[in-house]
Amino acid sequence: MISYKNVSMEYPESGKVLDNLNFNIEKGEFFVIVGPSGSGKTTSLKLINRLIEQTDGDIFFNNKKLKDYNLRELRLKIGYVLQEIALFPNLTVFENISLIPEMKKMDREIIDEKIDFLLNKVGLEPNKYKDRFPEELSGGEKQRVGILRAIISGPEILLMDEPFSALDPISRINLQDLIKELHDEYKITTVFVTHDMSEAIKLADRICFMKEGKVIQIATPEEIVKNPENKFVSKFLGNESEIGYE
Ligand SMILES: Nc1ncnc2c1ncn2[C@@H]1O[C@H](COP(=O)(O)OP(=O)(O)OP(=O)(O)O)[C@@H](O)[C@H]1O
Ligand SMILES: [Mg+2]
Repeated sequence: MISYKNVSMEYPESGKVLDNLNFNIEKGEFFVIVGPSGSGKTTSLKLINRLIEQTDGDIFFNNKKLKDYNLRELRLKIGYVLQEIALFPNLTVFENISLIPEMKKMDREIIDEKIDFLLNKVGLEPNKYKDRFPEELSGGEKQRVGILRAIISGPEILLMDEPFSALDPISRINLQDLIKELHDEYKITTVFVTHDMSEAIKLADRICFMKEGKVIQIATPEEIVKNPENKFVSKFLGNESEIGYE
């Protein structure tokens, strides 16, 4: 569904930050990109919704080059959730979630129903939460709203960049469970970035391990645990502090 073909990215200031990426992400797959800070995870993700453009190679989405899509049309097919909560501060929870369905001219009544349904699903009682503003929510609640906003209009791809890294451990586990449940139910093709190997192992159909702009290994969680490609992956699996990360 998404194919990276000889994709490289070079910045004048930082040189080559992605080095000849070649891999496919399958329809319905939960694909997790893992690696240390600066390995190129965010850059790889941003290429998909064309926030930035690679300097070499191409990315195909349903066999068509990303750059041949109308940008607006492409973005409407993609839901995006970031680490920094990017809700509109001056809009209520309801207004934040209904923004894209309204742009897509979805029926108002259907939007209302769907928002109630989804808020209940993520444990936010609609009557209590719909009219609140983002500043009246906790971090975990904001991320729940961010996730609903990204999935409500049925995107073909869901991109998530360290969406839970600012949360406390309990909220983090709850939201991991939630996103897994939502994925099992809706099977949205998901590309999820994290530097937390245990999160990757818990969520992924396949893990893509990156280091210094290169893909080191792509494998299922079971395979990567059993047969890490090299010492670096192995240390990352076992004890991140050993390799001086953070
Ligand atoms: N706009 C930019 N201009 C120049 N260099 C950049 C730019 N954006 C990212 N880089 C460089 O590209 C490399 C990869 O960055 P990227 O943000 O993709 O890493 P990451 O794996 O997401 O790291 P982290 O885990 O810290 O978020 C880094 O060395 C970074 O300094
Ligand atoms: Mg990043």
